[in-house]
Amino acid sequence: MSTTVITGAQWGDEGKGRFVDFLARQAGCVVRYQGGDNAGHTVIIDSEEFKLHLVPSGIFYPHKINIIGNGVVVNPAALLKELRMLESSGIDVSGLRICARAHLILPWHMKFDELSELGRGNADIGTTKKGIGPAYMDKAERSGIRVGDLIDFDVFVRKLTLYAKAKNDILEKIYGEPGIDVNKVIEDYKYYASVMMPYITDGIALLHELISKGENILFEGAQGTLLDLNIGTYPYVTSSHPIAGGVCVGAGVGPKLIDNVLGIVKAYTTRVGKGPFVTELRDGTGDAIREKGHEYGATTGRARRCGWLDAVILKYAVRVNGLTHLAVTRMDILGGFDTVKICTGYRYRGEVTDVFPARWELLNEYEPVYEELKGWDDNISHIKRFEDLPENAQKYIGRIEELSGVPVAMIGVGARRDQAIVRMEMF
Ligand code: IMO
Ligand code: MG
Repeated sequence: MSTTVITGAQWGDEGKGRFVDFLARQAGCVVRYQGGDNAGHTVIIDSEEFKLHLVPSGIFYPHKINIIGNGVVVNPAALLKELRMLESSGIDVSGLRICARAHLILPWHMKFDELSELGRGNADIGTTKKGIGPAYMDKAERSGIRVGDLIDFDVFVRKLTLYAKAKNDILEKIYGEPGIDVNKVIEDYKYYASVMMPYITDGIALLHELISKGENILFEGAQGTLLDLNIGTYPYVTSSHPIAGGVCVGAGVGPKLIDNVLGIVKAYTTRVGKGPFVTELRDGTGDAIREKGHEYGATTGRARRCGWLDAVILKYAVRVNGLTHLAVTRMDILGGFDTVKICTGYRYRGEVTDVFPARWELLNEYEPVYEELKGWDDNISHIKRFEDLPENAQKYIGRIEELSGVPVAMIGVGARRDQAIVRMEMF
């Protein structure tokens, strides 16, 4: 038995889903431990593209257990839509389990997400408007409603009625907006409860049962290190803990049960939503990466901001996650340039630092210090062995290992399941 955490080492969209799908073949169970349907994990199977938001990316292997862990916030409407999408493609979803301790997203959360963003004006975060922040706020404030509350529907109705009164008061009296129809919500959630019921379980008990049976476990992070509520570029972050430590609280395991921490690193950097981004390319090169890599959000369709790889971020991600391995994705997309750059430090008032700052405001003043490397041909998607990669691509990977101090175990050379070079096994 061994366990591996897959976590994003940048601002999300690193290609976590495809590596979860890839490694899930050797695991008995995949667990999502945080976030909600703000995530968008793209997995391509036999040239069919699936965009998963809530369901763990191990779902494509029948008979494997896929747990939505206690740290996730679940929008039942989004979940049902996703299950229908999967079933209509003939995917067997009977291995799905939802932890009774996970919190529910309610219509108020989406409304408050929208209103808060509006209220911030130019200082908006650029959230996905999926209600993530407000759902975690209610959880922290202890007024959240959990998936397990759907089991005895009277409990749900009792909690919702109390909750709705307080929240509609805020909508009506503070925002001057119409309140949300409580009866309609009860009716909708009664239906959701009936569909979700067979999947609801004690996710922690189930996970530990599988661990004691000797199953390999994969923990699937959503978002990324710099979107972590504590560790990231606050307030331009999400409201959960994507870092590896998030697994302990969001799945219910102690840190000693974590064996490998695989950081997923895109060969370049992208960011969707607002916030600082030192290596952002607001020029033709950035546009070229965006078009070639189809860098548009899987959840909101927004154009992603693109830039060079930032080793300062990488070093920070190694520290805060305890990364034991890296997987570098999209090496094919970064191919085709004469030269490519890696940011190795930030220049500020004549000095160079490689420490990621606590205050994001500094990032706006920091200038990237680049190292330039020779580019490689982009026709590499068929390559299966590291030795067969163009020499300059090998050097790029070697430089990432030197700068981060962590071995690159896997390299993505295309979006399909088999388009990966594996240098080290996780299980
Ligand atoms: P995956 O799992 C990239 C960003 C949003 C916004 C900020 C807060 O596909 O990597 P939220 O709706 O979470 O309150 O928005 O976080 N964001 C993501 N960016 N990938 C994601 O998920 C993201 N999920 C949220 O754009 O900047
Ligand atoms: Mg995504």
